Amino acid sequence: MGRRFLVGGNWKANPKTIEEANKLIDTFNGAQVTADVEVVVAAPFLFLPLLKDRLRKDWAVSAENIYTKDNGAYTGEVTAPMLNSFGVGWTILGHSERRDILKESDEFLAEKVTQALNKGLKIIFCCGEHLEERQSGQQNAFVSRQIEQMIPAVPEGKWGDVVIAYEPIWAIGTGKVASTNDAQEMGKVIRDILAAKVSPEVAAQTRILYGGSVKPNNCNELAAQPDVDGFLVGGASLDAGFINIVNSAEHSK
Ligand code: PGA
Repeated sequence: MGRRFLVGGNWKANPKTIEEANKLIDTFNGAQVTADVEVVVAAPFLFLPLLKDRLRKDWAVSAENIYTKDNGAYTGEVTAPMLNSFGVGWTILGHSERRDILKESDEFLAEKVTQALNKGLKIIFCCGEHLEERQSGQQNAFVSRQIEQMIPAVPEGKWGDVVIAYEPIWAIGTGKVASTNDAQEMGKVIRDILAAKVSPEVAAQTRILYGGSVKPNNCNELAAQPDVDGFLVGGASLDAGFINIVNSAEHSK
């Protein structure tokens, strides 16, 4: 079965105002998508109702995080049932900014994975090594461990709702994109782990994205790699160039 190309926009803590968010929505709504591609826009919680209301209906809306519980005394958190009630169908989990800045552990993320999938959300689960691991040749072991910690958290029958994003931390927001070889190689490493630890069917069907300084001028070559099934895009999802990246799906094999 073919894997449909998926491009996610990750707004992170952007933009600063509702006016700017509306402008970006207008830009996206007016753009022509020529490729066969699934598009998911992840935004801060406050902007999600606006996106649900105004963003073009052929694109999906995503949160960037959830809490592990349904509701209760967890000051500052937002939960999966709340997203359900706003019709938000996706969440990113395990972004390196949450792992490193907010100190989210593999164990905590595994709980979030189970919670999200049990509540009917689809997830974009992020993994990726720091520069130190890459420089010491430990990147495959590091990313393999992140994926192996996540695998048991996926409930039976839920792999169809899981997308994995490989995002080397040294490439995020730095303008230093991974080479097509590096992106392809890690995509293959992740797919091989899924084949060995879950099943060959799940490995063949699961989409593995690349993220880290994806731009309109480097996306076509990356999209052509066999184990790059789409992108997770940060900085370049905040302007009209995002549409060029969405349309790079035409270059996927
Ligand atoms: P970037 O971010 O495209 O700005 O490098 C990617 C991400 O962190 O998802």
